[in-house]
Amino acid sequence: MTGILEGRVAIVTGAGSGIGRAGAELMAREGAHVVVLDLSEERGAETAGLIVSAGGTAEHVAVDVTDDHALETAISGVASRHGRIDILHNHAGAQVAGDLESVEIAGFDKSWSLNVRSHFMAARLVAPVMKAQRKGVILNTSSSSGVLYDREMIAYTTTKHAVIAMTRQMAGDYARFGIRVNALCPGWVDTPFNEPFIAQMGGRAAIESYIAEKVPLGRWADVSEIAEPILFLVSDRSSYMTGQILVVDGGETVV
Ligand SMILES: NC(=O)c1ccc[n+]([C@@H]2O[C@H](COP(=O)([O-])OP(=O)(O)OC[C@H]3O[C@@H](n4cnc5c(N)ncnc54)[C@H](O)[C@@H]3O)[C@@H](O)[C@H]2O)c1
Repeated sequence: MTGILEGRVAIVTGAGSGIGRAGAELMAREGAHVVVLDLSEERGAETAGLIVSAGGTAEHVAVDVTDDHALETAISGVASRHGRIDILHNHAGAQVAGDLESVEIAGFDKSWSLNVRSHFMAARLVAPVMKAQRKGVILNTSSSSGVLYDREMIAYTTTKHAVIAMTRQMAGDYARFGIRVNALCPGWVDTPFNEPFIAQMGGRAAIESYIAEKVPLGRWADVSEIAEPILFLVSDRSSYMTGQILVVDGGETVV
């Protein structure tokens, strides 16, 4: 049986761990050749290895996506090796704590550079390739914090709100070229990403009771529960959908 992404080339940033890895593995299972772009050589290699040992095809490039030159080299390398880029999942992001006065300026700037600017740059680099194909999909990871107020998280919420604005803008401008652009807003997903927040909350028990109270479904999402919506958004299953956000948060934003 052929997968729904057979013959497609997908780039996933931050695929060395957590949600990005789970999405990359599912895309590969559905037939895509996955290019893992991650800061960590070791984690990127591990994801590519997992995909290959499951029977898929993948490669990895260690790259800091906030480094324009490195990003450009990586993406142009994919275009020249494969002759096409069908999917870009801009997933790498960072959470920097603090309110207006306490957030470190360097952390605020890093948040904008990674959570927004690197998505913009990667999309800008794949756009000519997708335009030439008259088809392509860009998925930008935002967060439930992109649609919510998040206490003392000014860098995170403003950047994740900006990802949604940027997604809508790109979608409007590029629909005529056959390029769809959507945003994904996960809620609480059990990955290493939350470790600093768990430490700040005072440990695992504190976060578990916080989630039980705040999230109507009463629990974390498993990465597999985010990978399925990723597959939906990067495949033709969502072929008439662009400029939208998909919130996958156990009901957190309905209350
Ligand atoms: N886990 C959650 O609860 C949650 C909820 C909402 C949104 N998100 C979003 O998901 C993303 C994080 O995913 P995760 O939870 O799987 O985290 P994770 O920590 O498991 O994985 C993040 C990966 O991104 C890579 N990375 C970090 N900075 C990078 C850079 N500059 N260049 C290239 N790669 C880089 C890391 O090496 C790591 O492998 C962020 O965009 C975050 O805002 C996560």
